[in-house]
Amino acid sequence: MTDKYAVIGNPIGHSKSPIIHKAFADQTGEDISYEAILAPLDGFEATVRALMADGYKGTNVTVPFKFEAYKICDSLSARALSSGAGAVNTLIHIDGKIHGDNTDGIGLRTDIEKNIDFQIANKHILILGAGGAAHGVLNSLLGASSITIANRTHGKALELVMGIRDCEVHAITFDSLERPYDLIINATSTGLTDTALPIPSSIFAKGCLAYDMMYGRETPFMKQAREAGAQVADGLGMLVEQAAEAFYLWRGVRPLTKPVIQLLRHA
Ligand code: ATR
Repeated sequence: MTDKYAVIGNPIGHSKSPIIHKAFADQTGEDISYEAILAPLDGFEATVRALMADGYKGTNVTVPFKFEAYKICDSLSARALSSGAGAVNTLIHIDGKIHGDNTDGIGLRTDIEKNIDFQIANKHILILGAGGAAHGVLNSLLGASSITIANRTHGKALELVMGIRDCEVHAITFDSLERPYDLIINATSTGLTDTALPIPSSIFAKGCLAYDMMYGRETPFMKQAREAGAQVADGLGMLVEQAAEAFYLWRGVRPLTKPVIQLLRHA
């Protein structure tokens, strides 16, 4: 019998998750269906419960429900708990209970280290932004030499670095940016509105990787980084890798991700 899965968000029409999971299912022979479901802004939990009652085995959760999803879980994975983000993107429905996990961080790290072949250990990392996206991936960057969070609102950057252990950390605003970094991750939402960040091009070290968690088009951040000579990546690989980790949690099978990234890239 086909096992049912879904992604829940609002809005949801743009989601590439159904295409990704269909590609994983075709590739691995797993008998699953996967659809995108729009939940009312005040109806996330009711939507999950209705899907569970209808036999759905798991759900992915996207904007704006990742924080609410965390709260309705009966149990949480160690990485969802330790990330401090208070957010999950993957739910496993077992016997009427909900187990939550967050695969965003591992998705980012896998994309950077395996697909792009850029190793995080001993690098100086700059994260632009201190909102939900930054929160969700921070823990996956441990092992770096230093992590600096630059944010428009200083207090939010400070809050974020307080959760980091075993790594040199800094919380700054954009006007203190000057020195170069090896890896710069844009975790602000500015790509959505094509807004340029007030960042100097001196932050792009020679040979650095500039990674935008957005995907779909070149953002002003990516353009500036490219013009400064950085290696540039968008978040499409992260999207596929976080989905692959969710697929593994549900099915116990690891799909190949590179062909799926290529499929989406050329779609
Ligand atoms: P997300 O879930 O996408 O991270 P969020 O939690 O609202 O969304 O966070 C958005 C991030 O983008 C924040 O770091 C925000 O900065 P503030 O904390 O100062 O609000 C950042 N951001 C949004 N618009 C921005 C802009 N025009 N310039 C600089 N930073 C911006």
